[in-house]
Amino acid sequence: MEDLEPGAAVLSLFSRDPYRKLKRRIGAHKVLDRDEDRLVYAVDASYTAPPGNHDPDLVILCESTEDVIEAVLFAREQGLPIVPRGAGTGMSAGSVPLGGGIVVVTEKMRKVFEVNANERWLHCEPGLTTEDVKQAAAKHRLLYPPDPSSYRISSIGGNVAENAGGLRCVKYGTTKDYVLGLKYVDHEGTVHGTGVLADEPTPLDLTPMIIGSEGLFGIVVEMKLALIPAPKATRTLIAHFAETAQAIATIHTILPELVPSVLEFMDASVIEAIRGHDPYPFPDGTQAALLIETDGERDVCEREAERILEVLQEAGALEIHTASDEAERERLWELRRLVSPSLSRLASGKMNEDVVVPIGRLGDLIDRVALIADQYDTRIPIYGHAGDGNLHLNGMYDADDHKAATRAHDAIVQCFKATVELGGTISGEHGIGAAKNRYMNLQFSQDEIDVLRAMKSAFDPELVFNPNKVLPHSR
Ligand code: LAC
Ligand code: ZN
Repeated sequence: MEDLEPGAAVLSLFSRDPYRKLKRRIGAHKVLDRDEDRLVYAVDASYTAPPGNHDPDLVILCESTEDVIEAVLFAREQGLPIVPRGAGTGMSAGSVPLGGGIVVVTEKMRKVFEVNANERWLHCEPGLTTEDVKQAAAKHRLLYPPDPSSYRISSIGGNVAENAGGLRCVKYGTTKDYVLGLKYVDHEGTVHGTGVLADEPTPLDLTPMIIGSEGLFGIVVEMKLALIPAPKATRTLIAHFAETAQAIATIHTILPELVPSVLEFMDASVIEAIRGHDPYPFPDGTQAALLIETDGERDVCEREAERILEVLQEAGALEIHTASDEAERERLWELRRLVSPSLSRLASGKMNEDVVVPIGRLGDLIDRVALIADQYDTRIPIYGHAGDGNLHLNGMYDADDHKAATRAHDAIVQCFKATVELGGTISGEHGIGAAKNRYMNLQFSQDEIDVLRAMKSAFDPELVFNPNKVLPHSR
């Protein structure tokens, strides 16, 4: 064998590295090509991608807009699809690289450019967690209201891509209500500003189209978010009921009269899953619980909390507890945020759905889900943002039991059908991604899907961003 200079073997290996040019341009530490690094990016928090190998060909950890541009240009050169990704906490397989591709991660883009308290906005990069954004606002006694349960780990870029919601939507709305403008990198690596971040006035504000577009149109690299004054006072209660109908009746009494900042429902299966974590133990016989919060000026908040107490008593609640201080309030919120991970105490497999029905149909949906669960011999715990009609239905099954998994899956499809029949929608906050695109036709006509497809082509004519997501049977 020919003698090699010391280091030459390494050099010759390096020269065969197909990513050498890219590594030189943006820095080798940002390019993950080793198997053990890439595999981590084959899943998100949903574990509901269609079957198959979804290991990405390459992962690029961008630290700046320039890196994102380089990543897009490189993917185009290689002829590989681009899968944008924030922190990977999504629940609809939106950032899973189906069958491969280049995953472009914005999690390390974490600059806060400015917080302007006078004008109440924050301008930042997409990699901050939702909590980072909240804390940056809180330093100025301001609030960024959207709060998905994963707010400590979800990225603000992912929140924008999915139009994330959370517990406070009932009063404050979702992410879309707080984005004043954004910048995104398109399929040619060009940066565009929208809304207040547009370089020059545009006839059409594209901001609302980019929000919730699930990585189909481009990669968001900056956002300017509206903030509101932090509420001066908060009152938080949890109420337990012996009958689900009592909880639903309470919701229908409260909503026409008051604007609670949180109105969350939990059913008996959910209560079973979180039992033990509850600061106020659920009494025996609890079939449903409501977590309710009211916030605002101290006197208004007190009055509203008193009225809520009255309504709960009239509805016949088994027990009602009011958080006596901030620590107890935080424990109640934490209890609620624990629901999704705690459900794995009930079974090893879980399909976490997020349907929405008109508020008036909440009770009907809960009844229909109970019938479907019986019919398919599947447990479907229900919880969620009842105040805005957004309920999480979880098809639970033993992950090792193929038949049980199929039953859970079929049951959930029946739940989607029931939701649409009740005038609702199959996703309120988790997105469609690759988890639900095959059910889009339950809700949308072919013409409506074609409009979406035309929008996709207008932004991304060569269909390089996030293929096979959202749209049924797209490339
Ligand atoms: C929640 C998530 C799962 O509300 O959306 O907990
Ligand atoms: Zn939710």
